[in-house]
Order: sequence, then C-alpha cells, then structure tokens
Amino acid sequence: MSAAPTAGHGVFSKTRAHITARTLRTDRWWLPPLLTALGLAAFVGYATVRSFVRTAYWVPEYHYLSPFYSPCLSESCVPGSSHFGTPIPALPMWIPLGFVVLPFLLGFRLTCYYYRKAYYRSIWLSPPACAVAEPHAQYTGESRMPLLLQNSHRWFFYFALAVSAINTYDAVTAFHGSGGGFGFGLGNVILTINVILLWCYTISCHSCRHVVGGRLKHFSAHPVRYRMWTIVSKLNTRHMLLAWTTLATLAITDFYIMLVASHTISDLRFIN
Ligand code: FES
Repeated sequence: MSAAPTAGHGVFSKTRAHITARTLRTDRWWLPPLLTALGLAAFVGYATVRSFVRTAYWVPEYHYLSPFYSPCLSESCVPGSSHFGTPIPALPMWIPLGFVVLPFLLGFRLTCYYYRKAYYRSIWLSPPACAVAEPHAQYTGESRMPLLLQNSHRWFFYFALAVSAINTYDAVTAFHGSGGGFGFGLGNVILTINVILLWCYTISCHSCRHVVGGRLKHFSAHPVRYRMWTIVSKLNTRHMLLAWTTLATLAITDFYIMLVASHTISDLRFIN
C-alpha cells in the first residue's frame, strides 16, 4: 500500500501540475483494497488446507459431501462419497482428491471480471484506488502474456456450469435419512443455499451475459434471448456481492460438514 510513487511517470511527469503527494485524498482509500486482500487470503488459505487434508468431507449417514471434494473420482475417496464412480486410481497425498475440477474452478474465479478488478487493485496496486498514483512505471494492461489469457474466461464459465450441475446433484442426493430413504436436516439447508447461490454467481457472469444475448445487435429479432439477457443483466448488477457471498457459503458448507463428519457436532435433524 505504501509503495513509493514512481518519479517522472504518470501524475509526476514533467508536463503535469507539480504536486508531490501521491494522492490528495484524505479518506481511508487504502481500506477497501486491504480488506479485499485479507478476504482473498483467508479463503485461499482455508480452501487450500481443506482440499489437501482429506479428512471429514463425507457424512455417510446423511450423504453430505463437501463441495471441495466433489466430484470424488479416485479410489482414495472414502466409500460412498463417489457419486460418479472411481475411474481414477489411488492418489498420493500431495494431489487433492478434487484435483479434476479444483484447477478449473480456480481458473474461473481468477479470470472472473470482478476478481480481476479486485486483485489488480488490492494485490497488484494498479491502481490501489481511484486517483491514487500507482507504483508501476509501465502499464500494458491485458495486452501481453500472461494476462492475455484472461480472455479464456468464457471456457472456464462453461466448465463452471457443469460443476454447478454436479453440486446440484450432490445437494439433491443429500436428502438422505440415517435409516435410509428421505431425510432432512440443517446440513440440507446449508448445502441447498450454497448451491442456489453458486448458480446465481455462475449465471450472473459477464461472459454468460454476452453469450445469452449481449452480443446480439437486434433484440427485437430474438425475444427469448432478450428475455434471458434481461434476467442475467439484473443478476449481473449483483456479481460482486455474489462473488463474495459464494466464497463465504462454500467455506461455511465445508466447515459445517467437517464438524458433522468429525462428530464434533451432530446434524440438527427435522426428518429422519
Ligand atoms: S465475470 Fe465473474 S464469473 Fe464470469
């Protein structure tokens, strides 16, 4: 946050008014980027640890599966947690059991237009805040490698749709009672809210808005896509909120399942 201004560049170049301060803002402009960096670090730390530990991610009585382990496709997965079989052999401890989808979900969020704004500001300080001089002497935006790859976001979006469908399947099969048949507990409420919000985040994606109708020129000739574009646009205005809310619900869902699976607490059951 306190990187020195770059002399001779930007607002310090010779042809600009001679103001030596990096910014004349008197508010706490550094607070939002600081909170953003702390929030991202907290989630990345938690998700990394939980993805590697391989403990307490499946509750056999109620069929609760942590989203960090879904789908569980390896022979290393605990019995019952593999809803789609185990086509992958046993994995060494340094490979997370969710390795098939985790890199793509990471790529989806890393290339997300909202998160780009968030980490370009809070981590790369480009700029740290509006009207605050940045510490870099040069700026090429996203016109060079590796940032050119941000343009692949749409492909990560398609993948995220498939993962949301898998998470939905997990949430539906989790309505399972301890004695078999239908069951309903607090874990179901948490899993279902998480999956609904994940859908909202995924559908509110800027690439989704472009794909469903944003790239059309004549809405009048495409009434159905116009309607879809209208819905996605409304959700899209909340994309930042959904980005943070889903980070929280993912961590809460995993944490709750961890507590139940490790017998630290027992699930609050409403039916069976
Ligand atoms: S823009 Fe954020 S998920 Fe696509």
